[in-house]
Amino acid sequence: MNLAMMELMLEGLGAFKFIGAVNGVEALAALESTPGIDIVLLDLEMPVMDGFETLIQIKADERTRDIPVIVITSDKSEIIKTLALGANDFMAKPYNPEELRLRVANHVHSKKLSDLARDMNEILESEVIKKTAALKQALHQSRLAEYEISLRLGRAAEFRDLDTGMHIRRVAEMARELAGLAGLSGEECEILCHAAPLHDVGKIGIPDQILLKPGKLEAAEFDIMKLHTEIGGKILSDAELYPILSVGQIVAQQHHERWDGTGYPRGLSGTGIHIYGRIVSIVDIFDALTSERPYKKAFPIQEAVRFMKEKRASFFDPELLDLFLAHLEKFTSIKRLYADDQSAPPALMRELHDMHLPVAAAGR
Ligand SMILES: [Fe+2]
Ligand SMILES: [Fe+2]
Repeated sequence: MNLAMMELMLEGLGAFKFIGAVNGVEALAALESTPGIDIVLLDLEMPVMDGFETLIQIKADERTRDIPVIVITSDKSEIIKTLALGANDFMAKPYNPEELRLRVANHVHSKKLSDLARDMNEILESEVIKKTAALKQALHQSRLAEYEISLRLGRAAEFRDLDTGMHIRRVAEMARELAGLAGLSGEECEILCHAAPLHDVGKIGIPDQILLKPGKLEAAEFDIMKLHTEIGGKILSDAELYPILSVGQIVAQQHHERWDGTGYPRGLSGTGIHIYGRIVSIVDIFDALTSERPYKKAFPIQEAVRFMKEKRASFFDPELLDLFLAHLEKFTSIKRLYADDQSAPPALMRELHDMHLPVAAAGR
């Protein structure tokens, strides 16, 4: 009878569904089976499970905790206890129907607002997660595209140079390795690896009669050969938005600078040469010296090491060279992993030309 009266009193609140339960067990079962309940009107005096226990259970379950509970009691001394257990409001019997309607309407209104705020938060959070993932994916794609461009530009330069294409892969992998040993971040190592194939991209602008000349270059020819660093720098300039191309510009411009300032094109020295330039200089020379070609034997590793040690503080950053030599095995295994296809045409001579290393010493 109480339930029927209450449903009647609540009419006038607009469209709602009333679920009656004669004890706490039924009430909890209704809450369990009916998602979206907006308010509980809870009598304390019930058989089987009373209102206190029901209240405790409603507030202990995170699925029902936020549903407002109005306790209805004839014993006002219980009010404080029910509030302490988490009741949101109370009504003393006998209650005024208008007051009941107003309190129910207020609590349901607040509940709807907090539900909305929670839903909006969830929607926003999931949108942010989705957008962040999409952004990461887009960034990854753009990095891949940049690397692809870097490899192909590098290959274009080597194609004129008749190299096998594996040299730039080895330089890339070795640059990553040495950068890691030097303590650069994973991100920097990755970008340098992807940018290193661009070191000789400027050779695209060097005339054939110089680029492809067998034997030693005359001084004037060598001056032109040196321009491949500036040409590479120009090809890759104004690419601030593209980290691989920007690092590629540094590498293209500075891979022939020497620690003692005798390099080219600018005669930079010491740490005035960007660490990317100092790293690529070491691995580029090492790979050029030790690469095997059909017309020449590979410069033996130990001989290349001896040569590089001699140039420790003249060509190379001494600390970086020490790191390189201390972990030589890592670099020789990269050489093995990215070995040349021996059927490809020879071209190491170009590499030795632009380094201005003794061609004869390299075995020809
Ligand atoms: Fe070069
Ligand atoms: Fe090279």
